Amino acid sequence: MSSEIRPGIHWVGSIEWMLKHFHGHELSIYRGTTYNSYLILDEKIALIDTVKNTHIEDFLRDIDRVVPVEKIDYLVVNHAEPDHSGAIPALLARNPRLKVVCSKGGQTSMARHFPAARDLQVVKTGDVLSLGKRSLRFFEAQMLHWPDTMFSYCPEEKILFSNDAFGQHYAHANRFADQVDQCELWEEAVKYFANILTPFCSQIIKKIQEYSALNWPFEMICPSHGAIWRKNPMQIVEKYLEWASGKTPPSAVVIYDSIWHGTERMAKAICRGIEAEGVPYKLFYAGVADLNDVMTAILLSRGVAIGCPTLNNNLMPSIAPYLEEMRGLRFPNKIGAAFGTFGWSGEVIKRLEEALEKAQIKVVQPGLKVQFCPNEDDLKTCETFGRDFARQIKAAAQ
Ligand code: FEO
Repeated sequence: MSSEIRPGIHWVGSIEWMLKHFHGHELSIYRGTTYNSYLILDEKIALIDTVKNTHIEDFLRDIDRVVPVEKIDYLVVNHAEPDHSGAIPALLARNPRLKVVCSKGGQTSMARHFPAARDLQVVKTGDVLSLGKRSLRFFEAQMLHWPDTMFSYCPEEKILFSNDAFGQHYAHANRFADQVDQCELWEEAVKYFANILTPFCSQIIKKIQEYSALNWPFEMICPSHGAIWRKNPMQIVEKYLEWASGKTPPSAVVIYDSIWHGTERMAKAICRGIEAEGVPYKLFYAGVADLNDVMTAILLSRGVAIGCPTLNNNLMPSIAPYLEEMRGLRFPNKIGAAFGTFGWSGEVIKRLEEALEKAQIKVVQPGLKVQFCPNEDDLKTCETFGRDFARQIKAAAQ
C-alpha cells in the first residue's frame, strides 16, 4: 500500500492491524500500529526509514509500484530499532549501491543490528543532503527515544520526518491525523508518550527548544508510527511540551490490590475523600487494570495513591509491576501516598513509600494502615486521608 502525501513524496509504510503488544509484551496495543516509511522522488531518490521485518514482502512490492527499489539512492535511517530498520537487509540485497545515512549514534546501533551495512554516511545536526530540487537537513534528537534518533527535515516541502517522536500506535486506512477519530488519535498519542517517552521529558523539552532555535518551520510532521500531522502540526508539539512538564491540573490516580477487600474498601473511601475536595480521580484495581493505561493516567494526573495489604512481610507481587514501571518512567512533578491493610507485621507502607521515592514520586503524607479489615471509624479516617491528599494535589498544582 502506498499513498502520495505530497507530489513526489509517497508514504510506503505498512499497517499492522492486529498487533496487541509492542516491545515484546511490555506495551499493550489496542488499535494496532503502522510502520511509516517515506519515499522522496527527485533527481536523487531517498527512502526515509523502513518497516518491521514481518512486512518486507509488501514493503518492497509497494516501493516497486512507485519506483524500482534498485533506483533508490539514499536510505535515511532516523533510528535503527527493528520496527523501522527490519527491511534494511532486504533493501541492500536488492540494491547494494544504496547509501545508508544515519546519525553518529546510528553508526553504533547499525553496527550491532546490521554489521553487514558498513558503508554508512554519518550526519550531524545541520548537515544537508541534496536530492536535486529538494534536500534533507538533519537534526540529532538523541533519546527521543534512542541515542541514535534523528529527525530529517525537507525545507523545500516544510516537512519534518520525526521518526518515533509525535507518533501513535494507531492502525488506520487514512494517513492524516485530521482524517481519523480525534478521541482515538489523542488516546493513542498520549499513551504512546506516557509509556515510551516519559523517561526523557527533560530531553524532549530541551530538544524542542533546540529545534525551534534553528527556525526550520514545518507544515507537516511525518512520524514513523500512526497518523501524519498536517493540520496545525504544532498541536502535537505543544502537547509534548505540556506532557513533558508534568504540570497537570489537579487530579489523582488511586491504584490498589486487595486480598479480602479490606484495602479495596480503604481505596474507595480515599476516593470519596478526594472527590469531596473537588479533585477528579481514577481508580484502578491492579488485578485487572492494564499497566500501560495506568501509566497514561498517571502522566495526566498530579497525585498517585497506591495501596495493598502486607503479604509475607512485603507488598503484594501484583502491585510490584506498577511500581517498577513508575520507577522506570520517572514521571516528573508527581506526589504520592501509600495505604493498605495488614494482619500482624505491617511492612507494606514502608515498602510502598520506598518504591514511590525510588520512582521520584514525593511522598507527601504519612501512609495509612489498618489492621485486618477497616471498620466505620477507619473508613472515615480513609476519607480524611483522601481529603488531605487532594489538598496536597491542589497545592502542588498551583
Ligand atoms: Fe518505533 Fe523506537 O521504534
